[in-house]
Amino acid sequence: MGEGYLLPRAASIDNPLRIAVLISGGGSGLAALLKYQQEQTRNHNTVLVIADSPDAKGIEHGNRYGIETHGISLPEITDKLQRRIFHEELIHKALVKADIELVVLSGYMRILTPNFVRRWKGRLVNIHPSLLPKYPGAHAHRDALADGATISGCTIHLVDEGVDSGMILAQREVPVLAEDTEFDLQERIKKVEHSLYPEVLDKIAAGEYSV
Ligand code: GRF
Repeated sequence: MGEGYLLPRAASIDNPLRIAVLISGGGSGLAALLKYQQEQTRNHNTVLVIADSPDAKGIEHGNRYGIETHGISLPEITDKLQRRIFHEELIHKALVKADIELVVLSGYMRILTPNFVRRWKGRLVNIHPSLLPKYPGAHAHRDALADGATISGCTIHLVDEGVDSGMILAQREVPVLAEDTEFDLQERIKKVEHSLYPEVLDKIAAGEYSV
C-alpha cells in the first residue's frame, strides 16, 4: 500500500528505538511522550529534541528530562526554498549524528521538502488534529467547526511528499460540541493525542506495522 516507505527495525526494551521529536510550539505532546517513556522502560526512547526556534516553549520539556535539545532556527538566506533546504540539512545532520531511527513530528509546523521526506520516509511520523483525509493543513479545528462537523479527532500517519497525505496508522475520534471554540476542540483533541501517540510508537517500535 505505502510507496517507498522503509520502516524502522523491530526494537525491544533491551535495545529501544532511538527517537527524535520535532516541535514548534508548546510541546504538550512531547511532554506526554517523555512522561510515558519515563514511567516504565519502553521499546522506544527519545534521545533528541529539535525545535525550529530556540524560543519554542516546548524546549523546556527536553531540558527538564535531560535530553539533548536544540533550537535550530532558519538560516539567514534570502531565497525561501534554499532557506528551507539548508534548515533541513542542519536538522538532518543532527538526526544522523544522534543515530536517530524514528523522527516524530509533534506539533512541528513546517512542511518538509520532498528531498528531506525521501531520506526518512517510513521513519517519519506525524500527528494531525483531524480525522484525515478531512481537514488537512494548518487550520484543522477552524475547518472542522466551519464545516459543522459533529465528530473530529486525530490521525497518526507516516509522512509522504504531500501535506497530511501519508499512510494512516491510527485515528481516534472526539465529539465536536455545538458551543465549541477552536481552543475547546483543540484541547479535547490534544487529550486523546497524548495517549494515542505513545501507543502507536509502541507498535511501530514492536514492528507491528507493515507497508
Ligand atoms: C497538536 O494538536 C498536533 O496535532 C498539531 O499541533 C498540536 C501540537 O501541540 N500538529 P503541542 O505543541 O504538542 O502542545
